Amino acid sequence: MTRRYYVTTPIYYINDVPHLGSAYTTIAADVMARYRKLRGFEVHFLTGTDEHGLKIQREAERRGIAPEVLADQMSAAFRQAWPALGCEPDDFIRTHEPRHVAGAQALWRKIRAAGDIYLGDYQGLYCVGCEAYYTDKELLPGGVCPLHKTAAEPVKEQSYFFRLSRYGERLLELYEKNPEFVSPPSRLNEVRSFVRQGLQDLSVSRTTFRWGIPVPDDDTHVMYVWFDALSNYLTALQAPEDNTRFWPPNVHLVGKDILRFHAVYWPAFLMAAGYADDALPRQILAHGFLTYGGQKMSKSLRNTVSPLALAEGIAPWLGVDVIRYCLLRSISFGHDGDFSIEDVLGRYAADLGNTLGNLLHRLLPFAGDAAALAAAEPAGPLEEALRSQVEVASRAAAEAFDGCAPTRALEAIWVALTAANSYVDRAAPWAARKQSPARLGTIVLTLAAALEAASVLVAPVMPRVAAALRQQLGLAPLAPRVGADQWPLAFPVRDPGHAFAPGEPIFPRLDKERIAELRARFAPPPEPAAPGGAARGVDATEPPPTRPSPATKPAPTVKSRPQTTAVAPAGRAPGASVPDKAEPATAEAKAVVDFEVFAQIDLRVGVVRTAERIPKKDRVLSLTVDVGEAEPRRIVAGIAAHYAPEALIGRRVVVVANLAPRPFGGGLVSHGMLLASDTPAGVRLVAPDEASPPGAAVR
Ligand code: MSP
Repeated sequence: MTRRYYVTTPIYYINDVPHLGSAYTTIAADVMARYRKLRGFEVHFLTGTDEHGLKIQREAERRGIAPEVLADQMSAAFRQAWPALGCEPDDFIRTHEPRHVAGAQALWRKIRAAGDIYLGDYQGLYCVGCEAYYTDKELLPGGVCPLHKTAAEPVKEQSYFFRLSRYGERLLELYEKNPEFVSPPSRLNEVRSFVRQGLQDLSVSRTTFRWGIPVPDDDTHVMYVWFDALSNYLTALQAPEDNTRFWPPNVHLVGKDILRFHAVYWPAFLMAAGYADDALPRQILAHGFLTYGGQKMSKSLRNTVSPLALAEGIAPWLGVDVIRYCLLRSISFGHDGDFSIEDVLGRYAADLGNTLGNLLHRLLPFAGDAAALAAAEPAGPLEEALRSQVEVASRAAAEAFDGCAPTRALEAIWVALTAANSYVDRAAPWAARKQSPARLGTIVLTLAAALEAASVLVAPVMPRVAAALRQQLGLAPLAPRVGADQWPLAFPVRDPGHAFAPGEPIFPRLDKERIAELRARFAPPPEPAAPGGAARGVDATEPPPTRPSPATKPAPTVKSRPQTTAVAPAGRAPGASVPDKAEPATAEAKAVVDFEVFAQIDLRVGVVRTAERIPKKDRVLSLTVDVGEAEPRRIVAGIAAHYAPEALIGRRVVVVANLAPRPFGGGLVSHGMLLASDTPAGVRLVAPDEASPPGAAVR
């Protein structure tokens, strides 16, 4: 039986070109689609543009053009942006297209015929930015929208209403029977409590502007833009070709801001149109926001980053994959995460260059020895261990991708890549070349097989990197086929006669000038003023600092090198000034110490296993860190202002392991300290290479 998978992104408002925040949703959906294609599913991946409504009409007026012209221009920009970001949607729907207009009107007619649309009068508050109605208590003081920070507008007009109030019970039953309908579970609770508060009928038409789909049989009204927009998931399957076999959608991927529309209104519209529970979308998956300088990246806050400019800045062509990787690896899917160029540069050098790229370039110098390959001897214990590590990672990654958890999938894959690098260290092909060609043959075939597996495992997230890897391994490009599962659940077998095609390094080291340029171009935007001007990175229990703050210190001796700081907790006195963003924080001169003094400090590689905020202590995070001991250690670190807890899980850190334990009150004791540096972008953790195991000594 053909396994089908239908995944959608929200359709984008056309008042803005795609930015890194909007690209995040589409990239995540593309990853899900590519993964299922590799697993042999018949996939339909839909995206598009949301072109109607007051917001768009006003944007067209502001630009002095007709809304149709704006829609044509901007939908073209979206359509072109996705392939440039490595995304391959199967269909792109525009809500101004005739196929959509007809489909939305058909849905309206069905619901009207069922008696769930009626004519009434609406009076209330409306945020044009959200295209949503608000009650007084949902708004900030002064009637201000919490998301757009603009005043909601009073609206009073005749309106058609959707009888949403009729569907509260059935929605609650749906969530009860099918808790995966909304994911992650914390979001389900949010939706449930909204529905439990009681649902009001929803105004679904407007009469005060014309830029929308005319209501059937009453064209004095246009449809409420969310009724129009949500129906795209259905209308796109009906024309130009019949794709209705893909219904119902497996996943509607959405940002957390638009969860209510998808998890409450949309299933209720479908229920009213006669859809049984098993014909409703299977899952609404809400992801968090990409923030920049701590605020949601958005046009209205003027803190957007162009994904293409960033990708080009890193590397033409493959840069896009670097962005895709960093977005999905650094922001634990479902949570908010801050974009930082330091994170991108760090991951480029460590995860991609030193771990993945390096693995290939440690293999290639030995790959041309045809005699050794032909003489390869059977695998030994080292090879068996690597085979099993790769298979474990492949299964774990599959499970994570199946559960729409790409961050977890990448973590599992990188564990295997790190193991493959350790395999090279231990198998020592350079020594085998001198001593035993047969052994060298085995090592080369094993590594090539591990890299072949990696080329599939990374393909959903980094399709271009996967193609480049496969080319150098002498393998054909991946070509997903319906019905053929290509996921490397079993370790590949490399044919000894198969030639390699060595090429240039896939992730060449970025030169200093390029790094400086990227840092300058993508420096974080100025942060909004912190209430009360509280200092960052300082725990409330922190005693006064033992060293002067940079603000009071005389000119430092080392001007441009960021300082390395221990942060558990670290930093400045409350109220002390934070270094100017334009000026790197600089190291202070300290007294010279003998090597013996330095050697007394037990520095170790640690891997963060858990991270959480502590109630009433907003400057510190409580972590458990694996430092190679039987149990992970509890470490309290003053980094809450600089890292989201979820972004730390799985990260490698440097731990000062022999510091006296330090109590934090309430029974909380810190058993170590993390190393970090003060940078213009805030405190950044010192990150050892991915290949360093927990507990490794740092010297
Ligand atoms: N047009 C509606 C969706 C209708 S779907 C039937 C809309 N459009 S939007 O352009 O404002 O947002 C589209 C998607 O982009 C949403 O999922 C939104 O959460 C996402 N993002 C926009 N900025 C974002 C970030 N900074 N971070 C993550 N996602 C972001 O809402």
